[in-house]
Amino acid sequence: MTSLFAPTTLAGLPLQNRIVMAPLTRNRADPMGVPQSFVRDYYAQRASAGLIVSEGTQTSFAGQGYCRTPGIHTAEQIAAWKRVTDAVHERGAKMFMQFMHCGRIAHPLNRQIPDAPVAPSAVRPAGQMWTDQQQLQDYPTPRALETGELPALIDEFVTAARNAMAAGFDGVELHAANGYLLNQFLASNTNLRTDGYGMSVSGRIRFVVEVVEAVARAIGAARTGIRVSPGHMFNDLVDGNPLETHRALLDALPTTDMAYVHVMLPDAFSPKLNNAGDPQALLPALRPHVKGALIAAGNLTAASATAMLESGLIQLAVFGRPFIANPDLVERLKSGAPLAALREDLLYTADAEGYSDYPSSGS
Ligand SMILES: Cc1cc2nc3c(=O)[nH]c(=O)nc-3n(C[C@H](O)[C@H](O)[C@H](O)COP(=O)(O)O)c2cc1C
Repeated sequence: MTSLFAPTTLAGLPLQNRIVMAPLTRNRADPMGVPQSFVRDYYAQRASAGLIVSEGTQTSFAGQGYCRTPGIHTAEQIAAWKRVTDAVHERGAKMFMQFMHCGRIAHPLNRQIPDAPVAPSAVRPAGQMWTDQQQLQDYPTPRALETGELPALIDEFVTAARNAMAAGFDGVELHAANGYLLNQFLASNTNLRTDGYGMSVSGRIRFVVEVVEAVARAIGAARTGIRVSPGHMFNDLVDGNPLETHRALLDALPTTDMAYVHVMLPDAFSPKLNNAGDPQALLPALRPHVKGALIAAGNLTAASATAMLESGLIQLAVFGRPFIANPDLVERLKSGAPLAALREDLLYTADAEGYSDYPSSGS
């Protein structure tokens, strides 16, 4: 197990171990997208990780989909995040911010602006979304983005990246996984565009490549990561050939210089959500297309993570759900202590209960 706990570097950034806390949406921001004070405690409690990736954070009010998610586009939000990164750095972890523009996975009741949610195409997702005012509601049909709007949207990611650096983050992760805006551009059932940002694999990957390149130019490729989930059919997203799409995407990205490529395994929540074939074969199939660090999440254990690290398949091991109920996950993995179970009913509630009140062993 030594490799899991050994220090390493990530694009020159020293990490105290190879354990990453996954991005986890927990809906603890105020209505204006400002993380509440106990958000700092929650992240600081988990900062024995080598790297923490923040919960999905919107780059503008237009990017918000869910209730009570945080943003990184106002002075109050930036100031609140600075308190978080200071506390995390004090305990030794590094921290990246995940940028989540929800695209069509949004409901107007959850947003501060009256505009309809936008997406690559006007394709309504099947299913429903939680709203605090009217509980579960059908998704509305999004408005298709016009070609002429895309440069401003790219600028929004760039401004957010500069804001994240001002807030003390060590880098940013572009969320191109799990059915949100960037993933909607990649997938064949959500991208029906007939301009240069659709129609073919090279068209569907183009917007994501342009966002990554613009952010990398602004803050450095070494501070820029991306998250993908090839074959994960979450949020009604189904790409006809996820391996082909993602191989082309990774080949087009400057992965030699980027901080990392982060893969969420497509069977992380259910085997039924995967259309990429054998999940065990996914990382080996992608590995040749990632020239720098590859990191992965999805039901990892200390043993499976160690095996993947030692074979060179991945460079960092990412844990999501185990970090929720185990703030001292690193210690527990090291000692083999049992893991506490998370309280599902408190995952997305508004206060500190079931969030920053999970005890560490011995506390
Ligand atoms: C409550 C919850 C919230 C999540 N929020 C996000 C998110 O904001 N961004 C993201 O990329 N993935 C999100 N995920 C997926 C996790 O990052 C992770 O990839 C997934 O839980 C699989 O890892 P695990 O098996 O170790 O939990 C979320 C998962 C859970 C359970």
